Amino acid sequence: MKTMLRFVPVLALGALVACGGATAPGPATTRPEAADAQARAQAALKDFGDRLRTELREAMTRNGAPAAVDFCHVQAPRIAEQVMAEHGVRLGRVAVPGRNRNPGNVAEGWLQELAVSFQAAVDTGGAPEAQMAVIREDVPAGVELRLARGIRVEAACLMCHGDNIAPEIAARIAEHYPQDRATGFSEGDLRGLIWAEVPATTETTP
Ligand code: HEC
Repeated sequence: MKTMLRFVPVLALGALVACGGATAPGPATTRPEAADAQARAQAALKDFGDRLRTELREAMTRNGAPAAVDFCHVQAPRIAEQVMAEHGVRLGRVAVPGRNRNPGNVAEGWLQELAVSFQAAVDTGGAPEAQMAVIREDVPAGVELRLARGIRVEAACLMCHGDNIAPEIAARIAEHYPQDRATGFSEGDLRGLIWAEVPATTETTP
C-alpha cells in the first residue's frame, strides 16, 4: 500500500501558482481550506465512479454486453462531462501505460508518472484501489490540487478487458477502437487511474 500525501504551506502555494507563468496572485487572498479542495475532488471522483458503474450495469442488463460496449463508447465521456460540470472540477480516467482502449485515455505528464509508480506498488503487493496521490505542489497555474486513485480490475470487467472476450463483444470493440490495447487483464490488476483536478479559487477574485 502506498500513499503519497504532499502538503505545502499556504504561502508556498501562492509562490508556486505565480511560478506557473500566469500573473502573480494579488495581495494575500485567503486560500480556501486545503481540505476543501481534496474533499471536492474526492466527491467528484466518487460520483463519477458510481455513475459509470450504475449506468454500465443497467446498460448490460437492458441490452446485453455487446451493446454495452457502444454504451461505454458514448456514455463514459458524457458522464465525465456531466460530473465535471456539476462539481466544477476536471476529471477523467486513464489506462496504465501501453494498455489503453480509447487513445484519448493515454496517461501523460503527471498521470503517466503516477501510473508508473502505482504499477510498481501493485507489482510489489499493493492493492490497486489503495493507490492514491494528492498533489498540491508542482501544479500548473490555476490549479489548486490534483488527486488520482488506482482502479482495480474486478471480475465484472473481464468480459471486456480480460483474456477471453466473446466474439460479438470483440467485434464491437474492434469497430470503435481498432488500436485497442485494453484486454488481457486479470482480476486484481491495476487497470488505470481515475483523476481529478480542482481549479484554484483565486481565479474568481479580480
Ligand atoms: C461492456 C464492456 C466493458 C466493461 C464490462 C468494462 N469496460 Fe472498461 N471500457 C470499455 C470501453 C468501450 C472503454 C472505452 C471508453 C471510452 O471510449 O472512453 C473502456 C475504458 C475503460 C477505461 C479507460 C481507459 C482506457 O483504456 O480507455 C478504464 C480505466 C476502464 N475501462 C476500466 C474498467 C473497469 C475497472 C471495469 C469493471 C469494473 C470495466 N472497465 C468494465 C468497455 C468495458
